[in-house]
Amino acid sequence: MGIGIAQVAATAGHEVKVCDNSLEALEKAATKLRNVLNRLVEKGKMDREKADGILGRVRFCSTPEDLGESDMVIEAIVEDLDAKRNLFSHLEVIVDEETVLATNTSSLSIAKIASACTFSHRVLGVHFFNPAPLMPLVEIIPAVQTSGEVLVEVRNLIDAWGKTTVTAKDTPGFIVNRVARPFYGEALRMLEEGIADVATIDWAVKDVGGFRMGPFELMDYIGNDVNYTVTETVFREFFYDPRYRPSFTQKRMVDANWLGRKTGKGFYDYGENAVQPEPNRDRELGEKIIRRILVMLINEAADALFLNISTRDGIDLAMTKGVNYPHGMLAWADKLGLETVLKELDELQAWYGEDRYRASVLIRKMAAEGQKFYPEKVLESQ
Ligand SMILES: NC(=O)c1ccc[n+]([C@@H]2O[C@H](COP(=O)([O-])OP(=O)(O)OC[C@H]3O[C@@H](n4cnc5c(N)ncnc54)[C@H](O)[C@@H]3O)[C@@H](O)[C@H]2O)c1
Repeated sequence: MGIGIAQVAATAGHEVKVCDNSLEALEKAATKLRNVLNRLVEKGKMDREKADGILGRVRFCSTPEDLGESDMVIEAIVEDLDAKRNLFSHLEVIVDEETVLATNTSSLSIAKIASACTFSHRVLGVHFFNPAPLMPLVEIIPAVQTSGEVLVEVRNLIDAWGKTTVTAKDTPGFIVNRVARPFYGEALRMLEEGIADVATIDWAVKDVGGFRMGPFELMDYIGNDVNYTVTETVFREFFYDPRYRPSFTQKRMVDANWLGRKTGKGFYDYGENAVQPEPNRDRELGEKIIRRILVMLINEAADALFLNISTRDGIDLAMTKGVNYPHGMLAWADKLGLETVLKELDELQAWYGEDRYRASVLIRKMAAEGQKFYPEKVLESQ
């Protein structure tokens, strides 16, 4: 992630230092940046002069001491709380008092990272999505300690880099990694129940639902280890709310080292002669699969709004610009009708008797009052 963020900042004209304590990682990062820029030049998407300018603005270093002159540091080291806290307290003695210290953490508490610093008002979360140069979204997460001035300054800066910024509360998974949990969780649950196989669920989500990737393809792409860890962290950090409970099926994939593309096997086989499974293209089954995932995604988005994790527009932008969902979940809720969404959630909860399917009180209230998330908009398909 670090080199992708460096590319974004250097493209915006900043002098950037990329710091990693592994020389091998630095070499890989330098090669990756050169290759990415060369490819852009070859495809005619960037001229040579601009690419050379970007390369010239990125330097590499192996100790944080080299970051002394920086106006801002964006940390993207391993996702480990102690490692990040150690780095932040170390950085504080190197940089000056007003240097902004940002973390790209996907799941850790920003307040806990900030509390490693004496001047914690200048610490905040700046969460890019992978690949950082291509994905427009950046979640900006102030900790309780972050000053209002730092928040505004950083948001303006990242906006000026051409990114779409959304402010989110410092809560597990922020917006995207919270709202997206059922995309994986319900797919895994339907697989476990035998409702459909991997290929059929992916087909339903893509061909019936209009998503770019199916959940199993995406888990294999992200890596089952990474995806499972995010779910497990969100579950633990939400004080074991059953809504986020991880799946044994995915845990066993991780146990077996079937991590997806990177190990050659995951939910699919990536071997050279592997034959990919055919989905059952039964439209009725496809509708049933996508609806169950959709109502659960909508429920998460509505609950995030109810708990003021972000604004309505922030939550919808986050899912379309951070993970390429075809529509924002709250806009989609209006399209389906909140009464319908509520009815389907209540049916799931009644059938399974599990708290996992409890409807957000916001959906219940809005459905009872006949409200919409976007009362001002007449949606195209209506
Ligand atoms: N990969 C993603 O899709 C993604 C997306 C958004 C956010 N993030 C977050 O970005 C961060 C980095 O993720 P990644 O996937 O790039 O991880 P990664 O493991 O690929 O890279 C981490 C790098 O940090 C280096 N490192 C570890 N400890 C260090 C230290 N103390 N000082 C300097 N360098 C150190 C490692 O050598 C490694 O090169 C994590 O916090 C992760 O949650 C990742």
